[in-house]
Amino acid sequence: MGILWVKHDDPLCFCIFLICILNSRAVAITSDGEALWNFRNSITSSDGVLLQWRPEDPDPCGWNGVICDSKTRRVLYLILSNHKLSGPLSPELGKLEHLKILSLHHNNLYGAIPSDLKNCSELQTIYMQGNYLGETIPSELGSLSNLEKLDLSSNLLKGNIPDSLGQLVKLSLFNVSNNFLVGPIPTSGILNSFARNSFFGNLKLCGTQISVTCSNGNPPSVNPQTPTSRRLLVSASATIGALLLVALMCFWGCFLYKRLGKHDKPSLVNDIGGGASIVVFHGDLPYSSKEIIRKLETLNEEHIIGSGGFGTVYKLSMDDGSVFALKRIMKLNEGFDRFFDRELEILGSIKHRYLVNLRGYCNSPTSKLLLYDYLPGGNLDEVLHDRSEQLDWDARLNIIVGAAKGLAYLHHDCSPRIIHRDIKSSNILLDGNWEARVSDFGLAKLLDDNESHITTIVAGTFGYLAPEYMQSGRATEKTDVYSFGVLILEVLSGKRPTDASFIEKGVNIVGWLNLLISENCQRDIVDPHCGGVRSETIDALLSVAISCVSSSAEERPTMHRVVQLLESEIMTPCTSDFHDSDLED
Ligand SMILES: Nc1ncnc2c1ncn2[C@@H]1O[C@H](COP(=O)(O)OP(=O)(O)OP(=O)(O)O)[C@@H](O)[C@H]1O
Ligand SMILES: [Mg+2]
Repeated sequence: MGILWVKHDDPLCFCIFLICILNSRAVAITSDGEALWNFRNSITSSDGVLLQWRPEDPDPCGWNGVICDSKTRRVLYLILSNHKLSGPLSPELGKLEHLKILSLHHNNLYGAIPSDLKNCSELQTIYMQGNYLGETIPSELGSLSNLEKLDLSSNLLKGNIPDSLGQLVKLSLFNVSNNFLVGPIPTSGILNSFARNSFFGNLKLCGTQISVTCSNGNPPSVNPQTPTSRRLLVSASATIGALLLVALMCFWGCFLYKRLGKHDKPSLVNDIGGGASIVVFHGDLPYSSKEIIRKLETLNEEHIIGSGGFGTVYKLSMDDGSVFALKRIMKLNEGFDRFFDRELEILGSIKHRYLVNLRGYCNSPTSKLLLYDYLPGGNLDEVLHDRSEQLDWDARLNIIVGAAKGLAYLHHDCSPRIIHRDIKSSNILLDGNWEARVSDFGLAKLLDDNESHITTIVAGTFGYLAPEYMQSGRATEKTDVYSFGVLILEVLSGKRPTDASFIEKGVNIVGWLNLLISENCQRDIVDPHCGGVRSETIDALLSVAISCVSSSAEERPTMHRVVQLLESEIMTPCTSDFHDSDLED
């Protein structure tokens, strides 16, 4: 950004200057645009949906997820569900006076629901289910007299359901299930017409709507004799457990955001311009440092292909047509350089057919730019859950086996051994032939045989983490094995480990598997959309997954054993998997 100096000795000039500035700002964007821009600045989106929002546009009507009235250019709909949005909800949303639909469900939003939404008097629909929103439901929502649909289910909301919501006479859908709401459900007005489905999964709610008697000052009574209530109790405890874990991960997310996100400001060009050096591993990059740095200087927002907990990933295309992925990790502290250089040297020495190859890195004043082979198939999370093309059974098995081999290599064939610590589907990348490559050693901490294996950092993602890892923060090979078991279940079922359908039942994917096993229908876990299922392999694969997600770490197999089981019982054995760079290049 440029800096303009104005001489203040002529007051008239100065005033004209100020008016010009204010005027150009007013022309630059409408008030709705400004409110949305402020909303955008408080959140991050790892899928890049908000990258195309630009404050210099005259209005926000062409922005992703925004629909305006064609004449007035006022914002009518804000639809950004399922976009991995993370952060607190800005009260600025309350300035969208003509908003009719606010659809932000299934993201990672946290913090309070802004009471300023009361100013959006034309609101008809609020969908915020499946986030991590906390605090109480603002009673001010009761003034939204046009509201027809209000879904706040599967969040972390606490306190009472406000009486004022009973005034929402147009409400036809109301759902606050799976939160931490307490006390009597108001019987006034429209709330009386909703039944159990609108309220279940809140352990301390009571009222006629859910047939639980409210006793003065006491939590609603639960009869321990009936199996149904026992199941409810188990399910509710599991919900609370799951939500507490979610809260813990939110806390971890905020911590990461504070430590890393806010540092991710300086542009890449400035960073490189300030003095950078290139370190190349294997000596197999046919470019001079100068050439690489020149290319790095051309990167900007348009080249971003993703971002995660540790930084932004860019696509880097060289003049000879070779493509790389560049991961930018901001420097955290003084000791960062020494620690990372040592770590990267070891990671750079590892080459294996099922691991993403780290080619080298660029040392810039404020960040490390890690240069990886580019994997054109994207990540497994997207392929399984977001993209339309379907993975058939054999492709899924092949990916599982590849990922198992990559992880087994880290555990058993590297010296020192490496615990990945963040095994999840977004860290399994796919090459052009849909072969798996385990990516992202950004969180991997080397296991020195002479040191204690204890670490206090709980990395990884909720849903994949072994119970003992969540409790102690101690990562071991067996915590990776657990995450790998969850990954198998995800690939088999096509459902994310924290799919809303499990959380509704008060469980995660492992709990769901256990429920199916108890009903002797574990084969139902298989994704009904998956073609070419070879039923004779389902049981063998399930049995591997079940042993990996055992709650006792000792009972889990090693990754070597997992590979043996997968190869002997599910696939035909393969020849050597070690990376042959001559063949590849
Ligand atoms: N080598 C690569 N080739 C192609 N795409 C890549 C490569 N590395 C990363 N990406 C893309 O960039 C995205 C972001 O990666 P990143 O590792 O920063 O985040 P993540 O995997 O979602 O989360 P985490 O930070 O926990 O690993 C990935 O999901 C993937 O789609
Ligand atoms: Mg990753």
